[in-house]
Amino acid sequence: MKFTLRQLKVFSSVAKHSSYTRAAEELFLSQPAVSIQVKQLEEHIGMPLFEQIGKKIHLTQAGKEVQHYSHATFQQLKEMEDVLESMQGLSGGRLDIAVASTINYFAPRLLAAFSHQYPDIDLTLEVTNRETLKKRLAANERDIVLMGQPPAKMDLEATPFMQNPLVVIAPPNHPLTHEHQIPLQQLTKETFLIREPGSGTRLAMEHFFKEKKIRYKTGMAMSQNTAIKQAVRAGMGLAVVSKHTIELEVETGRLQILDVAEFPIMRTWHIVYPRGKRLSPAAQAFHDFVLSDNLAALSESD
Ligand code: PGA
Repeated sequence: MKFTLRQLKVFSSVAKHSSYTRAAEELFLSQPAVSIQVKQLEEHIGMPLFEQIGKKIHLTQAGKEVQHYSHATFQQLKEMEDVLESMQGLSGGRLDIAVASTINYFAPRLLAAFSHQYPDIDLTLEVTNRETLKKRLAANERDIVLMGQPPAKMDLEATPFMQNPLVVIAPPNHPLTHEHQIPLQQLTKETFLIREPGSGTRLAMEHFFKEKKIRYKTGMAMSQNTAIKQAVRAGMGLAVVSKHTIELEVETGRLQILDVAEFPIMRTWHIVYPRGKRLSPAAQAFHDFVLSDNLAALSESD
């Protein structure tokens, strides 16, 4: 077969977005240029790779096979680049990291400290929730992922690196702020603002209350810790959040941590990558950095 990597790349982009237009935008090409590349690939292969049903395009069976193998091919090429880079030593390189939304409260400090030590490494940071992080790991799309509990059903290398206490927060004028060792049962009278489905924090909170057989009322669901904090301040309810996210508000008295019995829910942050993945030198340096004493110093200031 005589097709080119470029044709495969264009095909992969169309398959990823199910759209010629979006692929053209991603690759900075015109839409006709994208169609031509896909058409040429189909001619080489001798089978259609997409079919149009209504307004949408879908992969044919052959298209799905090509997508599977081209994904693996591009992963291998990236690994080849990393290995060759490693033979030249750690003078630069790229590092794609994805972190849980909640980690974003200390990730910038962590990355700043890492960049200070390795100024030639180009860093890209994606901040997203647990569900998306699972997808990134399954598709081997990032060098390193920082997340809460690693998914049990996936084959991963996961190392704990920091504790993540989840606490109950309230506005400073809430009557419960004066109480100590508030029994869990008392929380059944309160409304809880919760994170979006797919959030690790939400999952941990649900597990905890279920295990303790505590039924609680839920208010609005919000996809950002910042929104939750604002809503709690505005008196819309209580919330369970990571202590890492409220450092500033607690310091300035805008929010209070309630002294609830059996809290905090103690979780742990993990540094994770798919088992068997060969870490690039930049990724290895980051891995070592996160597990080093540098980070212990960083967390002590929390
Ligand atoms: P999240 O945090 O709630 O921002 O998804 C991840 C986690 O705690 O596992």
